[in-house]
Amino acid sequence: MKNFLKLTDFTLAEHRRLFERAAELKQRRAEGLAEHTLGGKTLVMLMEKASTRTRLSFAAAAFQLGGSAVELAAGTSQLARGEPLSDTARVVSGYADAVVMRTSSDARLEELARYSSIPVINGLTDGGHPVQVLTDAFAEAAPLFGFDLWVGAPAAYSLPAADVDRAGGRVKTTTEPRMAVRNAEVVITDVWTSMGQEAESAARLKAFAGFTVDAALMAYARPGAIVLHCLPAHRGEEITAEVLEGPASRVWVEAENRMHVQKALLEHLILHPEE
Ligand code: CP
Repeated sequence: MKNFLKLTDFTLAEHRRLFERAAELKQRRAEGLAEHTLGGKTLVMLMEKASTRTRLSFAAAAFQLGGSAVELAAGTSQLARGEPLSDTARVVSGYADAVVMRTSSDARLEELARYSSIPVINGLTDGGHPVQVLTDAFAEAAPLFGFDLWVGAPAAYSLPAADVDRAGGRVKTTTEPRMAVRNAEVVITDVWTSMGQEAESAARLKAFAGFTVDAALMAYARPGAIVLHCLPAHRGEEITAEVLEGPASRVWVEAENRMHVQKALLEHLILHPEE
Protein backbone atom coordinates (compact mmCIF):
# COMPACT_ATOMS: atom_id res chain seq x y z
CA MET A 1 0.00 0.00 0.00
CA LYS A 2 1.22 3.44 -0.92
CA ASN A 3 0.36 6.96 0.22
CA PHE A 4 0.85 10.32 -1.45
CA LEU A 5 1.63 12.64 1.43
CA LYS A 6 4.46 14.47 -0.27
CA LEU A 7 5.96 14.66 -3.75
CA THR A 8 8.96 12.57 -2.76
CA ASP A 9 6.73 9.61 -1.87
CA PHE A 10 6.98 8.70 -5.57
CA THR A 11 10.05 7.99 -7.61
CA LEU A 12 10.83 9.98 -10.73
CA ALA A 13 9.76 6.95 -12.78
CA GLU A 14 6.39 6.92 -11.02
CA HIS A 15 5.94 10.64 -11.66
CA ARG A 16 6.76 10.03 -15.32
CA ARG A 17 4.14 7.29 -15.59
CA LEU A 18 1.59 9.48 -13.84
CA PHE A 19 2.13 12.30 -16.31
CA GLU A 20 1.90 9.93 -19.27
CA ARG A 21 -1.33 8.45 -17.96
CA ALA A 22 -2.76 11.90 -17.08
CA ALA A 23 -2.08 13.09 -20.64
CA GLU A 24 -3.75 9.97 -22.01
CA LEU A 25 -6.79 10.43 -19.75
CA LYS A 26 -7.04 14.09 -20.73
CA GLN A 27 -6.95 13.17 -24.41
CA ARG A 28 -9.51 10.42 -24.01
CA ARG A 29 -11.91 12.76 -22.23
CA ALA A 30 -11.45 15.34 -24.99
CA GLU A 31 -12.42 12.62 -27.47
CA GLY A 32 -15.49 11.72 -25.42
CA LEU A 33 -14.17 8.25 -24.57
CA ALA A 34 -15.20 6.85 -21.20
CA GLU A 35 -12.76 5.16 -18.82
CA HIS A 36 -14.17 3.12 -15.98
CA THR A 37 -11.03 1.81 -14.37
CA LEU A 38 -12.28 2.64 -10.85
CA GLY A 39 -15.69 0.97 -11.15
CA GLY A 40 -16.90 -0.02 -7.69
CA LYS A 41 -14.21 1.99 -5.91
CA THR A 42 -14.96 4.71 -3.37
CA LEU A 43 -12.95 7.80 -2.51
CA VAL A 44 -13.53 9.59 0.80
CA MET A 45 -12.59 13.26 1.03
CA LEU A 46 -11.97 14.35 4.61
CA MET A 47 -12.02 18.12 4.49
CA GLU A 48 -11.07 20.10 7.57
CA LYS A 49 -10.69 23.33 5.59
CA ALA A 50 -12.52 25.04 2.74
CA SER A 51 -11.95 23.82 -0.81
CA THR A 52 -13.42 24.25 -4.27
CA ARG A 53 -10.95 22.71 -6.71
CA THR A 54 -9.55 19.89 -4.61
CA ARG A 55 -12.97 18.65 -3.58
CA LEU A 56 -14.56 18.93 -7.01
CA SER A 57 -11.62 17.71 -9.06
CA PHE A 58 -11.21 14.59 -6.91
CA ALA A 59 -14.96 13.94 -6.96
CA ALA A 60 -15.12 14.40 -10.74
CA ALA A 61 -12.03 12.19 -11.17
CA ALA A 62 -13.58 9.37 -9.17
CA PHE A 63 -16.99 9.64 -10.86
CA GLN A 64 -15.59 9.85 -14.38
CA LEU A 65 -13.50 6.74 -13.75
CA GLY A 66 -16.65 4.86 -12.74
CA GLY A 67 -16.16 5.13 -8.99
CA SER A 68 -17.77 7.27 -6.35
CA ALA A 69 -16.63 10.01 -3.98
CA VAL A 70 -18.01 10.97 -0.61
CA GLU A 71 -17.08 14.09 1.29
CA LEU A 72 -16.70 13.77 5.04
CA ALA A 73 -16.78 17.37 6.21
CA ALA A 74 -15.04 17.50 9.57
CA GLY A 75 -17.58 19.94 10.96
CA THR A 76 -20.54 17.65 10.35
CA SER A 77 -18.90 14.33 11.22
CA GLN A 78 -18.23 12.81 14.61
CA LEU A 79 -14.72 14.28 14.42
CA ALA A 80 -16.32 17.58 15.41
CA ARG A 81 -17.69 15.86 18.52
CA GLY A 82 -14.35 14.44 19.57
CA GLU A 83 -14.12 11.06 17.83
CA PRO A 84 -10.39 10.40 17.46
CA LEU A 85 -8.90 10.58 13.98
CA SER A 86 -7.35 7.15 14.57
CA ASP A 87 -10.85 5.65 14.98
CA THR A 88 -12.17 7.48 11.92
CA ALA A 89 -9.20 6.24 9.87
CA ARG A 90 -9.92 2.60 10.65
CA VAL A 91 -13.63 2.95 9.96
CA VAL A 92 -13.08 4.77 6.64
CA SER A 93 -10.58 2.08 5.65
CA GLY A 94 -13.37 -0.47 5.89
CA TYR A 95 -15.63 1.44 3.51
CA ALA A 96 -13.41 3.15 0.99
CA ASP A 97 -10.47 2.51 -1.34
CA ALA A 98 -8.60 5.79 -0.83
CA VAL A 99 -8.92 8.90 1.31
CA VAL A 100 -7.95 12.50 0.58
CA MET A 101 -7.41 14.74 3.57
CA ARG A 102 -7.15 18.53 3.78
CA THR A 103 -6.04 19.66 7.19
CA SER A 104 -3.64 22.01 8.97
CA SER A 105 -0.80 20.03 10.42
CA ASP A 106 1.29 17.41 8.67
CA ALA A 107 1.27 15.47 11.94
CA ARG A 108 -2.51 15.08 11.65
CA LEU A 109 -2.25 13.85 8.06
CA GLU A 110 0.46 11.40 9.13
CA GLU A 111 -1.75 10.18 11.95
CA LEU A 112 -4.50 9.44 9.43
CA ALA A 113 -2.00 7.55 7.29
CA ARG A 114 -0.69 5.59 10.28
CA TYR A 115 -4.12 4.25 11.16
CA SER A 116 -5.45 3.78 7.60
CA SER A 117 -5.11 0.60 5.62
CA ILE A 118 -6.03 2.37 2.35
CA PRO A 119 -3.97 4.96 0.43
CA VAL A 120 -3.97 8.45 1.95
CA ILE A 121 -3.55 11.51 -0.26
CA ASN A 122 -2.50 14.94 0.96
CA GLY A 123 -5.17 17.41 -0.18
CA LEU A 124 -3.19 20.30 1.38
CA THR A 125 -1.55 20.80 4.74
CA ASP A 126 0.50 23.64 6.14
CA GLY A 127 3.54 21.72 4.91
CA GLY A 128 2.53 21.50 1.26
CA HIS A 129 0.05 20.87 -1.51
CA PRO A 130 1.65 18.01 -3.48
CA VAL A 131 -1.31 17.30 -5.79
CA GLN A 132 -1.16 20.94 -6.86
CA VAL A 133 2.60 20.83 -7.38
CA LEU A 134 2.19 17.61 -9.34
CA THR A 135 -0.36 19.32 -11.57
CA ASP A 136 1.84 22.35 -12.08
CA ALA A 137 4.75 20.10 -13.00
CA PHE A 138 2.42 18.33 -15.45
CA ALA A 139 1.88 21.68 -17.21
CA GLU A 140 5.60 21.62 -17.91
CA ALA A 141 6.00 17.87 -18.11
CA ALA A 142 8.49 17.91 -20.96
CA PRO A 143 11.57 18.76 -18.91
CA LEU A 144 10.07 16.70 -16.09
CA PHE A 145 11.47 18.00 -12.85
CA GLY A 146 14.65 18.99 -14.65
CA PHE A 147 13.90 22.68 -14.24
CA ASP A 148 15.62 25.21 -12.03
CA LEU A 149 13.39 26.87 -9.47
CA TRP A 150 13.87 30.40 -8.18
CA VAL A 151 11.80 31.15 -5.10
CA GLY A 152 11.25 34.86 -4.53
CA ALA A 153 9.94 35.83 -1.09
CA PRO A 154 10.72 38.18 1.78
CA ALA A 155 13.45 36.68 3.96
CA ALA A 156 11.06 35.82 6.78
CA TYR A 157 8.91 33.76 4.39
CA SER A 158 11.59 32.06 2.34
CA LEU A 159 12.16 28.33 2.03
CA PRO A 160 13.89 26.58 4.92
CA ALA A 161 17.61 26.19 4.18
CA ALA A 162 17.31 22.41 4.58
CA ASP A 163 14.81 22.27 1.69
CA VAL A 164 17.11 24.34 -0.51
CA ASP A 165 20.07 22.09 0.36
CA ARG A 166 18.09 18.95 -0.40
CA ALA A 167 17.40 20.21 -3.93
CA GLY A 168 21.12 20.00 -4.72
CA GLY A 169 21.47 23.38 -6.42
CA ARG A 170 18.27 23.25 -8.51
CA VAL A 171 16.42 25.56 -6.09
CA LYS A 172 17.61 29.09 -5.40
CA THR A 173 16.05 31.76 -3.22
CA THR A 174 16.00 35.52 -3.50
CA THR A 175 14.28 38.40 -1.75
CA GLU A 176 14.22 40.32 -5.03
CA PRO A 177 11.12 39.51 -7.14
CA ARG A 178 12.72 40.64 -10.41
CA MET A 179 15.60 38.25 -9.84
CA ALA A 180 13.12 35.43 -9.20
CA VAL A 181 11.30 35.87 -12.52
CA ARG A 182 14.27 36.88 -14.66
CA ASN A 183 14.28 34.69 -17.80
CA ALA A 184 11.67 32.37 -16.29
CA GLU A 185 9.53 30.29 -18.62
CA VAL A 186 6.91 29.70 -15.95
CA VAL A 187 5.97 32.16 -13.21
CA ILE A 188 3.94 30.76 -10.33
CA THR A 189 2.39 32.74 -7.52
CA ASP A 190 -0.03 32.00 -4.73
CA VAL A 191 -1.95 33.82 -2.03
CA TRP A 192 0.16 35.59 0.54
CA THR A 193 -2.05 34.54 3.43
CA SER A 194 -3.21 30.92 3.48
CA MET A 195 -6.17 29.46 5.33
CA GLY A 196 -5.48 29.54 9.05
CA GLN A 197 -3.01 32.44 8.78
CA GLU A 198 -5.66 35.20 8.74
CA ALA A 199 -4.24 36.84 11.88
CA GLU A 200 -1.00 37.45 9.95
CA SER A 201 -2.74 39.02 6.98
CA ALA A 202 -1.75 42.66 7.63
CA ALA A 203 1.88 41.73 8.33
CA ARG A 204 2.05 39.56 5.20
CA LEU A 205 0.51 42.26 2.99
CA LYS A 206 3.23 44.62 4.17
CA ALA A 207 6.06 42.09 3.86
CA PHE A 208 5.09 40.99 0.33
CA ALA A 209 4.71 44.51 -1.05
CA GLY A 210 6.56 44.51 -4.40
CA PHE A 211 5.92 40.79 -5.05
CA THR A 212 2.71 41.30 -7.01
CA VAL A 213 2.91 39.50 -10.34
CA ASP A 214 1.99 42.36 -12.66
CA ALA A 215 2.85 43.30 -16.23
CA ALA A 216 5.98 45.15 -15.09
CA LEU A 217 7.29 42.09 -13.26
CA MET A 218 6.37 39.76 -16.13
CA ALA A 219 8.52 41.91 -18.41
CA TYR A 220 11.55 40.32 -16.70
CA ALA A 221 10.41 36.81 -17.62
CA ARG A 222 11.28 35.13 -20.91
CA PRO A 223 9.08 36.19 -23.87
CA GLY A 224 6.16 33.75 -24.06
CA ALA A 225 6.42 32.87 -20.38
CA ILE A 226 3.26 31.49 -18.82
CA VAL A 227 1.71 32.26 -15.44
CA LEU A 228 0.23 29.70 -13.04
CA HIS A 229 -1.79 30.27 -9.88
CA CYS A 230 -3.45 27.40 -8.03
CA LEU A 231 -6.46 29.61 -7.12
CA PRO A 232 -8.34 31.12 -5.41
CA ALA A 233 -6.62 34.35 -6.45
CA HIS A 234 -6.69 37.74 -4.78
CA ARG A 235 -6.59 40.15 -7.67
CA GLY A 236 -4.50 43.18 -6.81
CA GLU A 237 -2.48 41.34 -4.14
CA GLU A 238 -0.26 38.49 -5.37
CA ILE A 239 -1.38 38.95 -9.01
CA THR A 240 -3.09 41.66 -11.01
CA ALA A 241 -6.35 41.03 -12.85
CA GLU A 242 -4.54 42.03 -16.05
CA VAL A 243 -2.03 39.18 -15.73
CA LEU A 244 -4.52 36.64 -14.37
CA GLU A 245 -6.89 37.26 -17.28
CA GLY A 246 -4.15 37.96 -19.82
CA PRO A 247 -2.57 35.87 -22.57
CA ALA A 248 0.20 34.46 -20.36
CA SER A 249 -2.28 33.01 -17.88
CA ARG A 250 -2.83 29.24 -17.87
CA VAL A 251 -4.77 29.18 -14.61
CA TRP A 252 -8.00 27.69 -15.97
CA VAL A 253 -6.32 24.79 -17.71
CA GLU A 254 -4.18 24.39 -14.59
CA ALA A 255 -7.36 23.97 -12.54
CA GLU A 256 -8.75 21.47 -15.06
CA ASN A 257 -5.49 19.55 -15.07
CA ARG A 258 -5.95 18.85 -11.37
CA MET A 259 -8.66 16.38 -12.35
CA HIS A 260 -6.64 14.61 -15.07
CA VAL A 261 -3.56 14.28 -12.87
CA GLN A 262 -5.59 13.10 -9.89
CA LYS A 263 -7.30 10.47 -12.03
CA ALA A 264 -3.88 9.06 -12.81
CA LEU A 265 -2.93 9.35 -9.14
CA LEU A 266 -6.04 7.48 -7.97
CA GLU A 267 -5.49 4.72 -10.51
CA HIS A 268 -1.88 4.38 -9.42
CA LEU A 269 -2.62 4.28 -5.70
CA ILE A 270 -5.71 2.09 -5.87
CA LEU A 271 -5.02 -0.23 -8.79
CA HIS A 272 -1.28 -0.71 -9.14
CA PRO A 273 0.73 0.82 -6.28
CA GLU A 274 3.48 -1.75 -6.74
CA GLU A 275 4.50 -0.36 -10.14
N1 CP B 1 -5.86 25.06 -5.55
C1 CP B 1 -6.68 24.48 -4.66
O1 CP B 1 -6.31 23.52 -3.98
O2 CP B 1 -7.96 24.97 -4.63
P1 CP B 1 -9.00 24.75 -3.45
O3 CP B 1 -8.45 25.39 -2.21
O4 CP B 1 -10.26 25.41 -3.93
O5 CP B 1 -9.19 23.26 -3.27
